[in-house]
Amino acid sequence: MKSIVILISGRGSNMEAIVRACQAEAWGASIAAVIANRPTASGLDFARQAGITALAIDHKNYSSREEFDAALMVEIDRFNPDLLVLAGFMRILTPAFVNHYAGRLLNIHPSLLPAFPGVHTHQQALDAGVTRHGATVHFVTEELDHGPIVIQASVPVYPGDNEDTLAARVLVQEHQIYPRAIRWFIEDRLKIVGDQVLVTPPEIQMIHTESK
Ligand code: GRF
Repeated sequence: MKSIVILISGRGSNMEAIVRACQAEAWGASIAAVIANRPTASGLDFARQAGITALAIDHKNYSSREEFDAALMVEIDRFNPDLLVLAGFMRILTPAFVNHYAGRLLNIHPSLLPAFPGVHTHQQALDAGVTRHGATVHFVTEELDHGPIVIQASVPVYPGDNEDTLAARVLVQEHQIYPRAIRWFIEDRLKIVGDQVLVTPPEIQMIHTESK
């Protein structure tokens, strides 16, 4: 049985989708812990109700990014994770942290990377006037919002969209592709080759949807 630890910062809807898929599809894995960097993260309540160890390590209690990441690593490693999942975890991670979990650290970013790294991705997409937008699950490397791409989903951008309507459309797809990527990882089907991720047997790694 593989062990997954999930890091969140807020509502944790991606974490919830992952927990539900893990249970419904009986993955050969368990969610060992959900850890937030904010004690008020509402996703912690869902995790507790689902019987998962849920705890907060408040980044405000640490004077540097290095100290916080070191404390976080100690906590995470108590659960011996095969996979560490960033699910709306709104912290920039130190190279020491990223390297410690290299090859077993996934993130979801709400844009079609390499377009629109950083924050306010939906507004960035609207400002750029793109006709399609989406989300990306990728392995984490030292460079922010880069790293080998596991799967992407694209959605249309409609005239009249605003940040909220676009975010909601993308989020529906996030909840589809993140559990799928994690399941592939758990099934040992992912291999990083250079900047690419190969899935064996092959799967479609770009989903185009026309959702409203
Ligand atoms: C998601 O859009 C995720 O891609 C981004 O922040 C949001 C977190 O949502 N990084 P949730 O906490 O998973 O509901």
